[in-house]
Amino acid sequence: MLDSGRCLRSQAAPNLKLRCVVFFTKGMTMKFGLILAAVAAVSFAAPVLADGKALYLEKTCVACHGKDAKKPLTPEYPRLAGQNAKYAERQMLDIKSGARANGNAAAMKGVMHLVSEAEIKELAKYLSEIK
Ligand code: HEC
Repeated sequence: MLDSGRCLRSQAAPNLKLRCVVFFTKGMTMKFGLILAAVAAVSFAAPVLADGKALYLEKTCVACHGKDAKKPLTPEYPRLAGQNAKYAERQMLDIKSGARANGNAAAMKGVMHLVSEAEIKELAKYLSEIK
């Protein structure tokens, strides 16, 4: 438990996080290990962006734009696969901000609070790369 105490305190110092993982692998109690794993997952995962495809599925895009962005829910919704990344990014930012409020844009605006600007960039890149 001496090690665990030290480890907990070191959470405050980001450069010491690795030491906690080392303590974990050296055989702590399971319960503490799980808490630690969760803390480590959060602190390590936060700066890393999820990839575009995961975001596309997770942020509900798939519901309206369809599998692989190829089969939209209705013929009035756009097919996004292969769209220019820059253009798609701009449209998403505009729909999110309300600058684009034409056609059925309101349908999509409702979910745009789920994505950050950085995530929008990832999504646009993913869409542009679908063959
Ligand atoms: C509730 C349905 C819905 C959801 C969910 C949705 N969209 Fe849309 N999206 C639309 C509609 C409808 C349009 C077209 C709006 C219009 O008619 O002007 C659109 C437009 C777009 C456009 C612009 C297309 C173009 O050619 O101008 C992009 C890019 C896009 N969506 C990406 C996404 C992404 C990425 C997500 C997930 C974060 C998402 N959408 C979630 C309905 C939706």
